[in-house]
Amino acid sequence: MMKSVGIAGLGAIGSAVMNALLEGIEGYTLVAVSETAPKGSLPVPNVGFIELAERCDLIIECLPPAIVPELAREVLFRGKELILITSSALLMHPEIKAWANENNGRIVVPSGALAALDAVKALSFLGIREARIRSTKPPKGFTGAPYVMENAIDLAGITEKTRLFEGNALDAARGFPANVNVAATLSLAGIGPEKTRVEIWADPAAKGNSHEIEVSGEFSTITAKVANMPDPANPKSSMLAAQSIVATLHMMTDRIAVI
Ligand SMILES: NC(=O)c1ccc[n+]([C@@H]2O[C@H](COP(=O)([O-])OP(=O)(O)OC[C@H]3O[C@@H](n4cnc5c(N)ncnc54)[C@H](O)[C@@H]3O)[C@@H](O)[C@H]2O)c1
Repeated sequence: MMKSVGIAGLGAIGSAVMNALLEGIEGYTLVAVSETAPKGSLPVPNVGFIELAERCDLIIECLPPAIVPELAREVLFRGKELILITSSALLMHPEIKAWANENNGRIVVPSGALAALDAVKALSFLGIREARIRSTKPPKGFTGAPYVMENAIDLAGITEKTRLFEGNALDAARGFPANVNVAATLSLAGIGPEKTRVEIWADPAAKGNSHEIEVSGEFSTITAKVANMPDPANPKSSMLAAQSIVATLHMMTDRIAVI
């Protein structure tokens, strides 16, 4: 059975996923996209969120965080499947999860720019005592973040590695919605947003974005570090995040799936 797929948002991540689908992923046909910015000629119709949700079995979200609830509502109210890369939206808008529950919809969150979530999920069934994530990016990667604006942080004036934020994943998502999807995803896989500790560092010497996690329980301690070069199409993003959606699509249909 072929699944009809739609992509919402054709920025750095959405266009990489579109290219992968056009090259061919068994079991899926790209039938429509939704994008408001001019993107030249597109291989499938560019439609609004309602039509996208009507036409597709599976919709892949690749949007700015503020737009995500608008799409999620149309998809989940129709009981469709949503691949959600902007996982911080699930923390900021708990109604999204309720829409899935009430309408028999489904939300799949890919690993994005993070690693080791498979082990974190497994450990969560045994019990996690502590979960931490430390994210480091060049200062300009935090441009426009609400926390930076509210605290009048001069990003251009940062000359050495500086901790911008320490707190839980919920407050991190509110302060840095476009930067801390990794923290949101870790919290969803592990012990939830209130208990997941987050540090955000700005480092002028950093060439890309790195994320270190430490998750421990009685039976295992998981430590992992991912260093991602910034995506040339969007320096706040990473190419690994786009390919994690491609990997998710494979995982959902492959005869042998390694997670
Ligand atoms: N989970 C992760 O680890 C992870 C990693 C990187 C990025 N992200 C998140 O993924 C999302 C996409 O990232 P990106 O780098 O592709 O962003 P991007 O800014 O490059 O692309 C977003 C696209 O959405 C389009 N758009 C905006 N409003 C729209 C609307 N109303 N309808 C249709 N299209 C609209 C924009 O024109 C743009 O092309 C972001 O929210 C980002 O924070 C998650």
